[in-house]
Amino acid sequence: MVKIDQIELPDFPLLLAPMEDVSDPPFRVVCKENGADLMYTEFISSEGLIRDAIKSRRKLDIFEYERPVGIQIFGGDEESLALAAKIVDVTNPDLLDINFGCPVKKVAGKGAGAGVLKDLDLMVRLTDAVVKATRLPVTVKTRLGWDETSKNIEEVAERLQDVGIKALSIHGRTRAQMYKGEADWTLIGKVKNNPRIKIPIFGNGDIDSPQKAVEYKNRYGVDGVMIGRAAIGYPWIFREIKHYIQTGELMAPPSVEERVQVCRQHLRKSIEWKGPIVGINEMRRHYANYLKGLPGIKDYRNRLVTLKTMEEVEAVLDEVAINYKGFAMEHQQIELVNYHENCPL
Ligand SMILES: Cc1cc2nc3c(=O)[nH]c(=O)nc-3n(C[C@H](O)[C@H](O)[C@H](O)COP(=O)(O)O)c2cc1C
Repeated sequence: MVKIDQIELPDFPLLLAPMEDVSDPPFRVVCKENGADLMYTEFISSEGLIRDAIKSRRKLDIFEYERPVGIQIFGGDEESLALAAKIVDVTNPDLLDINFGCPVKKVAGKGAGAGVLKDLDLMVRLTDAVVKATRLPVTVKTRLGWDETSKNIEEVAERLQDVGIKALSIHGRTRAQMYKGEADWTLIGKVKNNPRIKIPIFGNGDIDSPQKAVEYKNRYGVDGVMIGRAAIGYPWIFREIKHYIQTGELMAPPSVEERVQVCRQHLRKSIEWKGPIVGINEMRRHYANYLKGLPGIKDYRNRLVTLKTMEEVEAVLDEVAINYKGFAMEHQQIELVNYHENCPL
């Protein structure tokens, strides 16, 4: 068992990474049902929360069935972060996570997210302010360092543990790398194997198969892994990793029927939570992944992304389920998109 303060997680927990515009409540439903052990919200601006920005507030929505769930905030100012932590407190998540990893200019450039990696004293002060402001366990998610010449994660881990964080998730890239290249887990392993470190260390970056999860588990000894991009359109990654750990065998990929059913569930939850217009629009980016590997699926996909009502979308999903019934799905290599190039963040 792995414990984050009083939160009990199974051995080698699988975490759903916080992802802006992705890890919202509808997406979290399908990840939870398919084996995610701990999930995080999209990151929330501390300034936005304080200003009562509607989008920020909405990201605080959490539901009983998704526990344990963490709310993630970011900011570069002690007072705002502490105040935001108090607002988060009221919504009663299981834990509060601070983002010191976001590389995008509008965040890191303003001294928040990964920007804080350039100033460890500030990082410690910000974390201390949050730990003191909330009764919740505080965790941190960050990167290896600012750039190739300043990989300070080992010092970061010690200092943040000393200031009271209860777990640390490390994305094996620097800020300068954004999403380029391969994540380097060697430093993550070093942090985990530092005898001074007592808190759980979760590794993050490029996990896209059960085999890789197990290989990294064994090689780096981390307490669990956090998965982001591989879960987009493929929430089954969680249960497949669990199955592989338990049996040493690969689980069969989800059938067409199941893919359609989970896609439908995601769609319905999206509409429930976002309303019909936004709910349907934002589902469009998910169809390609849910239906990947079906020969000739392009025509259906092209239709799905133009339809405007739930009934129309569901009718096409019905067609897919009928026309591909019994099709023998094969495991597809999950593609990890380089969001440095494509992400609107
Ligand atoms: C679309 C997108 C949005 C993201 N938003 C956040 C975020 O809000 N907070 C955060 O800490 N990391 C965010 N990340 C980074 C992920 O949590 C994760 O660290 C990164 O994708 C590497 O893990 P992966 O290789 O499993 O995807 C985001 C990543 C993506 C692809």
